[in-house]
Amino acid sequence: METLGLEGSYTAFPCEANAVEATLSQCRAQGITGLNVTIPHKATALTLADNATPMAQLAQAANTLTLHTNGTITAHNTDIAGILASIPPTVRQHLPHTHVVVLGAGGVAKAIVAALQYYPLPQLTVVSRSQERAADVMALTQLAAHQHNTAVGWQPWPEKTTPFYAAAKTTRLLVINATPIGMATSDDTGPLNTVLDCALGTVASPGQCTAIDTVYQANTLTGFCKLAHAKGIPQQDGLAMLVHQGAESFTCWTGTSINTEIRLAALAHLRQTAT
Ligand SMILES: NC(=O)c1ccc[n+]([C@@H]2O[C@H](COP(=O)([O-])OP(=O)(O)OC[C@H]3O[C@@H](n4cnc5c(N)ncnc54)[C@H](OP(=O)(O)O)[C@@H]3O)[C@@H](O)[C@H]2O)c1
Repeated sequence: METLGLEGSYTAFPCEANAVEATLSQCRAQGITGLNVTIPHKATALTLADNATPMAQLAQAANTLTLHTNGTITAHNTDIAGILASIPPTVRQHLPHTHVVVLGAGGVAKAIVAALQYYPLPQLTVVSRSQERAADVMALTQLAAHQHNTAVGWQPWPEKTTPFYAAAKTTRLLVINATPIGMATSDDTGPLNTVLDCALGTVASPGQCTAIDTVYQANTLTGFCKLAHAKGIPQQDGLAMLVHQGAESFTCWTGTSINTEIRLAALAHLRQTAT
């Protein structure tokens, strides 16, 4: 805000699951004009808004709210733009030949699948504990999958290493971790390890696989990135996504775009300080 000559501050408000509406009213009373919303409040935030952007409707979740002076609230979902912007260009250019495997079936998995519908993927697999929740995620890409002839499917967490089933001709694999596993150093990352071994069994070399984590940690690799790095798989943590979705939220509130230079500076700063 300082760099752009704008006045304001960005503060965290703890909020219990049953107090989202009351917290919104308090924020409005304090003259707050914009909010980010995080787990587990994203779906509730959408239902409390007066209107929603197509992205928020698509992801069925809001991570950003604009509180207008007339008392109405607009719900946005900038996770989708954040994810899209955070996929390295070298990975993005190969998406038409890439089997994308999304781990988890929560809010971020939904945003990922919604974001990827803009690409003609040959194959998309959701790996999760619940087939029902995976079906909700996969439903988001139904139309696009039909249009792009994408083979969309669910599989439970693999118990042993067998190459991922390839329904379509793919030369690359992109595995995106949309679970919190590996956020804490005490987490059992065994399931992530097996998934990465399954991924390696599908490609000719580790370089043809990419691992992207949505989780991030300060000054250290996340559990998922650590495993990928050890296997020679190019990896990226969730900080880029965090910066890009934050920049998009900022634009929703202020109408001001955040250029690449500022985004990269924020990313470098977060690499040192994120918790
Ligand atoms: N980088 C960023 O900007 C950014 C933004 C938002 C979130 N995130 C990251 O994304 C992660 C997911 O967020 P979310 O909003 O999607 O959360 P969510 O809605 O709670 O979904 C989490 C998903 O992970 C699965 N899961 C959790 N623990 C698991 C385990 N031990 N084994 C297997 N599956 C497990 C859950 O499975 P079930 O469905 O079976 O319960 C669920 O499908 C967060 O932990 C956060 O670190 C990053």
